[in-house]
Amino acid sequence: MIDDLWYKNAVIYSLNVGTFMDSNGDGVGDFEGLSRRLDYLSGLGVTCLWLQPFQPSPNRDNGYDVSDYYGVDPRFGTLGDFVDFAHQAKQRGLKIIVDLVVNHTSDQHPWFKAARSDKKSKYRDWYVWSKKRPRDYKKGMIFPGVQHETWSYDKVAREWYFHRFYQFQPDLNTQNPAVFTEIQRIMGFWLELGVSGFRLDAVPFIIESRHPGKHIRHYAYLTEMRDFLQWHEGDAIILGEANVLPGENLEFFGDEGDRMHMMFNFFVNQHAFYAMASGDIRSLANALKRTEALPVYAQWASFLRNHDELDLGRLTREQRNLVYSKFGPKPNMQLYGRGIRRRLAPMLGNRPQLELAYSLMFSLPGTPVLRYGDEIGMGDNLRLRERSSVRTPMQWSEEPQGGFSTARKTILPVIDKGVWAYDRINVEAQRRDPNSMLNWTERMVRLRKECPELGWGKYTILQTHTPSVLAIRYDWRGNSVLTIHNFAEKPQNIAIDMGTPNSGRLSNLIVGEHSEAQADGKHHIVIEGYGYRWYRVGGLSHILKREKY
Ligand code: GLC
Repeated sequence: MIDDLWYKNAVIYSLNVGTFMDSNGDGVGDFEGLSRRLDYLSGLGVTCLWLQPFQPSPNRDNGYDVSDYYGVDPRFGTLGDFVDFAHQAKQRGLKIIVDLVVNHTSDQHPWFKAARSDKKSKYRDWYVWSKKRPRDYKKGMIFPGVQHETWSYDKVAREWYFHRFYQFQPDLNTQNPAVFTEIQRIMGFWLELGVSGFRLDAVPFIIESRHPGKHIRHYAYLTEMRDFLQWHEGDAIILGEANVLPGENLEFFGDEGDRMHMMFNFFVNQHAFYAMASGDIRSLANALKRTEALPVYAQWASFLRNHDELDLGRLTREQRNLVYSKFGPKPNMQLYGRGIRRRLAPMLGNRPQLELAYSLMFSLPGTPVLRYGDEIGMGDNLRLRERSSVRTPMQWSEEPQGGFSTARKTILPVIDKGVWAYDRINVEAQRRDPNSMLNWTERMVRLRKECPELGWGKYTILQTHTPSVLAIRYDWRGNSVLTIHNFAEKPQNIAIDMGTPNSGRLSNLIVGEHSEAQADGKHHIVIEGYGYRWYRVGGLSHILKREKY
């Protein structure tokens, strides 16, 4: 029996400790504040928290520039606060995964300081150096427009060092076995403190060989990490950030599912936005087909928005331009020549489309990942630079600073003007309103957890004969769910052939309108503009027919 893989039916919630809840009034969110909000999170129904980097850092890239892997940034509390938080999360049955950022360190990390100042230091070879300026020093930038090169000259070392990301993030030399051993030590440390796994940052770059001009991937590193992880903690997972093509994904999961457990499905994400922008689901259906085959232990993480820009780099130019024109038409909404730096609610602009988007995300084959604030439809602040636009503090109430902090100045400004301001959009107001986004999301989380077919099952895209309507059927152990999403603004009439006996009745899992097959054996459904349906196939039942296992 392998139905004990918790991540297959999890609902993940990602948050930044620094912008979630400030308990001591210094303007920065902290572990104590987060601990006090754990009942809110368990009430929402999420089952796993993904914490973005909270280790000591000069914080020039939202903590993704770590200067000590074995601690907590004093702004967020102490290691003791972390352990207390981990304990309290555990008491509520919430799992924790943490970011593991080991492609690079901060240039303020003591390893880099030692490496640059002393050729003989054991840390010298922990980074990637070149005596001459490599010919490709202006190639492969991750943040074009902001970052100007991938090799920079270090005056102290008098050599060039490689940095795939910003200049202040020198890449670690993962080909050095000592570095790899240290990565395992870091993993072991946080596992001992109670985490259930890692969101592995920038995976393709960690495993890439470091020689100038050569970009060979050492997938075996991932197998090694997985082995180490599993020997330490049987049910811990690695959730990888790797925006690669469908065929390449399988290398990251490993043939036997012996590398990463989960990966974000960036490919489907981008095509989902194209479907929402165009009202045409065909490229999304194709993306789903191309990412369908997975080893049994592997799982997709489905998401809409995250803490970065919405990366549209895998779409064609025409597709990307259409998404831009609908969701990010102004130049200051776009970033790095490939994406949009907005939150979902301002992009979509209206509740029906927001519900469609989230219903889709919850029903995509895999495990959904929510971003903090999306449960209340938070907005963005385009006056902040680069990706900070989507990282403003959580809006808890209509009190000053949105109830996030009592300080006059906060880590990033709260949104206090316009339609996205905290006095209009906040948790407290939405709790009282049964039709709020918050209560809707809570119901969807519950529904998603009650439909393990989505996380575990095999799925089939059914013909709707309408390019704007996506219908997916999921089968698992004698139970089946059907979801339907209409990406068009106008209502659509669809006829669905379920293709199996015993599917004469579809029980609606959200409202009381069920569907009976007609004389032609098909289900004829009228679905409103941006409408969505969740049905269990067969008699009315929210509860799985367990006896059929
Ligand atoms: C990942 C993170 C991003 C960060 C980068 C460098 O892409 O999601 O926020 O800037 O890695 O660590």
